[in-house]
Amino acid sequence: MKRAAAAIALIFAAPHAFAADPTLTARQEQGRKLYSATCVYCHGPNVWGTYTLGRRLGADKALLEQRTDLVAPYVKIVIRAGLGSMPAFRRTELSDAEADAIVDYLTRPKGRT
Ligand code: HEC
Repeated sequence: MKRAAAAIALIFAAPHAFAADPTLTARQEQGRKLYSATCVYCHGPNVWGTYTLGRRLGADKALLEQRTDLVAPYVKIVIRAGLGSMPAFRRTELSDAEADAIVDYLTRPKGRT
């Protein structure tokens, strides 16, 4: 019961991770889905990767999905080589096309809100 409540809380905390966003291209949408399946458990709100980045770079750079300063080559290198305690993803785990879709999603132009 507690676990179900936590899952429901997560769905409400991160609705963008579950609902299609009409402003995304098909590839960015594919990247968003892959990101939700592969990266969000460490980079969602209030979890390990987000916490680590917040401590190292500041609260405004903690959530990858909201960053406006990420560049594609850097994100690709971090995915393939890992960074600090983040594990590297091999091509057998995440193909180049899949990694590129995630990169495309994270580096898409974002309106300043
Ligand atoms: C097992 C947990 C974990 C997973 C899964 C994970 N990351 Fe990370 N990631 C981290 C941690 C922890 C850091 C911070 C490393 C540090 O600063 O020492 C990080 C850092 C990063 C950074 C560096 C940001 C910066 O400004 O330096 C990028 C980019 C990144 N992750 C992308 C991704 C992507 C894309 C995925 C999915 C393919 C992913 N991560 C999956 C834990 C994870």
